[in-house]
Amino acid sequence: MGICCCCYRSSVPSTLLPVVLGRVRPGGIRRCAPGQTDSRHDMDGILLLLLPQLSPIHVIETGGRPAPADGRPARTGRRAAGPHRQTGRRPAPVPKAERGRGRLTSGAGRHDRAAARETIGYVTALIPRPRAEVAPGAVHVPGWLSTDEQAELAAAGRDWARPPAGMRATRLPSGGVMSVQTVCLGWHWIPYRYSRTADDGDGAPVKPFPGWLAELGRRAVADAYGDPGAAGAYRPDVALVNFYDEKARMGMHADREERSLAPVVSLSLGAACIFRFGNTQSRNRPWTDVELASGDLFVFGGPSRLAYHGVPRIIQGTGVPGIGLPSGRLNITLRESGLE
Ligand code: SIN
Ligand code: MN
Repeated sequence: MGICCCCYRSSVPSTLLPVVLGRVRPGGIRRCAPGQTDSRHDMDGILLLLLPQLSPIHVIETGGRPAPADGRPARTGRRAAGPHRQTGRRPAPVPKAERGRGRLTSGAGRHDRAAARETIGYVTALIPRPRAEVAPGAVHVPGWLSTDEQAELAAAGRDWARPPAGMRATRLPSGGVMSVQTVCLGWHWIPYRYSRTADDGDGAPVKPFPGWLAELGRRAVADAYGDPGAAGAYRPDVALVNFYDEKARMGMHADREERSLAPVVSLSLGAACIFRFGNTQSRNRPWTDVELASGDLFVFGGPSRLAYHGVPRIIQGTGVPGIGLPSGRLNITLRESGLE
């Protein structure tokens, strides 16, 4: 997608420009040639802004290349985004009369929004993300971990990954192998039970669950639920530390191997992902797709403790510099096993 800063400038309050233009990814923006006016640009694509100043939702359509005569949509210069791959639909081409000049509209369709969001993930990274109760007892707290805490957890993750009882891709009873790689602390998870030893690996004793991680878990529950009392009783003794490369994913499942129904605390590091949070009845809809970015906390307990959830996709190109995780995503879930 090409975004012309001049078209953009004509459409957006100037106070926003330093923020947005300063952070757009290299090559994602181009300047007018001297003397060129925005009406002469051959612009394509859609820029979606969710900045508070432009609430609720505004789309800047920067024009488009002529649509082919057979009615197929105009090319955007980029492969169709995820939602298009699922539905086979694409956003409607920009009408001829509106091509060539940037314009600001509000109330984009859901489909266009999803497409634009995918295309310009680098802009959505700038958008304030409020905490949200996704379902009763399921709370997303964006940016909960500081950069230092993320770096410490990433370093710990590297240590935990080493053998004995190190990180491995779990083999499922069906014969398949998970694309996610996992190392466990406290109790070793094998589908679908816990053991004190890595029975599906080198047989070594599982690494201990550190006291500082339990303390972090209590702080997470306190902050997510705003209830220090409930958090004080939280005694996580299992961690599943999952590494996702950019192609890895996790199917919809419920965390049912624990005997305790205390909340699950999930901490995300590195590349962002789509975290699909569903319902307690089945793997199917309704669900909510939440973008979990580096440093985000997600806690699910109470009525949502046994809800199905999964990770359909890692969002490419969203890694975070400075935390010692150059690629991929690390997710740490803390649980109370209820086991002796
Ligand atoms: C899990 O469900 O165990 C992991 C979820 C995640 O990676 O966010
Ligand atoms: Mn899970």
